[in-house]
Order: sequence, then C-alpha cells, then structure tokens
Amino acid sequence: MKNVLITGASGFVGSFLVAEAVAQGYQVLAGIRKTSSTKHLQQAGVHLVELNFADTALLTQQLQQAETNFGTIDYVVHNAGLTQANNPNDFFTVNAQYTRHFVAALQQLGHPLQKFVLISSLAAYGPGKADFQPINIHTPYAPITAYGRSKLEAELFVKNTADWPYVIINPTAVYGPRDKDLFEFVKLVHGGFEPYLGRHQQMITLIHVHDLARATIAVMGRADVVRNSYIVSDGNSYSKEELGAVLKGLFGKKTLKIKLPLAPIVAVVSLVEKLYALAGKRPFLNKEKVTEISSANWICESEIWEALQTKPTYVLSNGMQQTVAWYTANGWLK
Ligand SMILES: NC(=O)c1ccc[n+]([C@@H]2O[C@H](COP(=O)([O-])OP(=O)(O)OC[C@H]3O[C@@H](n4cnc5c(N)ncnc54)[C@H](OP(=O)(O)O)[C@@H]3O)[C@@H](O)[C@H]2O)c1
Repeated sequence: MKNVLITGASGFVGSFLVAEAVAQGYQVLAGIRKTSSTKHLQQAGVHLVELNFADTALLTQQLQQAETNFGTIDYVVHNAGLTQANNPNDFFTVNAQYTRHFVAALQQLGHPLQKFVLISSLAAYGPGKADFQPINIHTPYAPITAYGRSKLEAELFVKNTADWPYVIINPTAVYGPRDKDLFEFVKLVHGGFEPYLGRHQQMITLIHVHDLARATIAVMGRADVVRNSYIVSDGNSYSKEELGAVLKGLFGKKTLKIKLPLAPIVAVVSLVEKLYALAGKRPFLNKEKVTEISSANWICESEIWEALQTKPTYVLSNGMQQTVAWYTANGWLK
C-alpha cells in the first residue's frame, strides 16, 4: 500500500481528499495541526500526523517521525491553505511561505517523492477577459486578490524547484456537503431572497468537492503526469442566475430577485474596510473580494477529465440536489 500525506486534512476539501485516497487504495497520513477538528478523519487507513509549517526544522522532524511510524511518504497533496484572512499578509505566510517550508522539509527526507500535488486555485489566474474567452493553463496569470497572488507565489515556487515532481490543481469554486461559502447563498435563496452583485452578465464555473477529490487523487497516481497544471471545473459554465434558478427549483419556492448595483456596494464595502483597518483588521467582504466574486468571466477549460478519460459525476443540477439534500439531512437548512 502506498502512502499519501494530505495536508489541511481537517478542512472541507481536505476531508474529501482523505476519503477519496482511502477509496482509491492508499494509506493516508492526514496532516493536521493541534487545534484541527478530526471529526471527518476517523476512518480505517487514516493516520493523523501533526505538522507545524511555521518551523522548517520541527516540520522535518515531524515528517521523519511520520515515516518511522507509518513508512515512506510516496505522494503528497498539499491542500492546507488560508482562504479568508483578517490581514492580507497572512495569505502570503500560509499559502506561499509555508509551501516553501514544506518543500524544504520534504527535501530533507532524502528520498524522491512520486508526486507533489499543490492545491492552488483558479484565483491564481484571476478572472478571464470581458470577451468571455475561457481561462486555460496558458492564460497569463493575473490574480486580482491577495489570496490569488499568494496561491500564484506558491505555484511559481514549486514550478521553479528543480526536478520537483509537481502537479498543480487549480479548482474553480468548490461546493458540496459541508461547504460553508456557497451555503451563504443557498441559505438566502432558501429564505426567499435571491440577491446578485451587479447588473452585468456574469458567468461562473463550479466543481463538486467529490469530483475534485476524485480527479486530484487519480491524477496524483498517474506516473505519466508530472510537472503539469490542471484547472478543474465540471466542464460547464453557468450564468449567475442559473445557480439561483436551480436552487429555487429544488426548494419549490418563489424568491425576491434583486440585482444590487455594484458601485454603491463597492463604496460601502470600501468604507467598512477603512474602518476595520483602524483596528488592524480586514472584513471578509472587502473591495478585492467583491471585485472577485462579481467578475464577469470565470469560464475555464478543464482538461483534466479528458486526461483521465472520465467525466465528472456532478453538474450543477444533480450536484446542487445532492448538496441541498445533505444540508437538509444535517439540519443546516431549517
Ligand atoms: N473551497 C473552495 O472553493 C476552493 C477553491 C479553490 C481552491 N481551494 C483551495 O483548497 C484548499 C482547501 O480549502 P478549503 O475550502 O477546504 O478550506 P478550509 O475548509 O478552510 O480548509 C483549510 C485547511 O487548511 C488548514 N490550514 C489553514 N491554515 C493552516 C496553517 N496555518 N497551518 C496548517 N494548516 C492550516 C486548515 O486547518 P484547520 O482545520 O486546523 O483550520 C484546514 O484543514 C485551500 O488550499 C484553498 O486555497 C478552495
């Protein structure tokens, strides 16, 4: 049995990566920190490994101890990352600097890895142009948020590390059971309110977390795929209203649809951001975030499915149906 070390195993995407790796026959070393929840990491074949990315020497010791306990680390999926931060510098510390520390510590193990998969983001490329041409892996990087720039910094580091057997995965917006981000919109529609940021045409792309995990672990195991990048979506693009329409259909509800004008929202958000800055903080909904989530073109090409000769299980209709069923069954929607 090969070993895969999955970092950020306690998080939304990480817990699905762990389950999928077990399903595909790997022994999993689940990288967590002291404070992480282990609720979704209790299955057989999963061993918890505490990792401290802030301290390269300690991290090296922790990796060596993990190999003593569980055997050679064959594969790594570096999924740990910060998606929200009070201070933009934290994105660069966790997403970029900790990736550099992690690679340095892995290099100290004294044996090659079969693969190092970096979970980056479509945000590293930034939104596509106004002509609605899809983003692909040859599109010049143009991130528009600190988050996107920090993910790009990590990507460039692994790409520039000589002989490093990387594969970069750039997921678009991920949804599915346990997701809390898109859930905010699901809750609003469930409550009969369907707000949209801006009156412009906007195209979004999505990937169900189960399909993201399936594709990531499959590509990790492919010996012929190395030093390559894959954007991952379900292969479709949706207008922002399509998401609302699917949810409305699932809830069987009428909604109040409002297209909020962008300029006043940006003005209010900028003001709130300035007030937060006085306390050295940054609100989650800041000017960069509003620009990112209201960008017109998030259409992307997702060549991973062709490379794997398979198709995603979920598109918006059945994926959202499965997700809403989960939210309902688990008491998230009352
Ligand atoms: N969700 C999306 O739509 C999306 C889209 C594109 C890319 N991604 C990428 O997917 C990855 C996972 O995101 P997610 O949505 O699953 O987020 P999440 O639920 O917040 O999970 C983040 C994981 O990273 C760990 N982590 C955060 N800061 C850490 C630190 N300083 N040291 C060690 N571990 C740390 C967290 O550990 P704790 O549990 O201890 O906090 C958690 O396990 C990230 O790299 C993100 O950039 C996500």
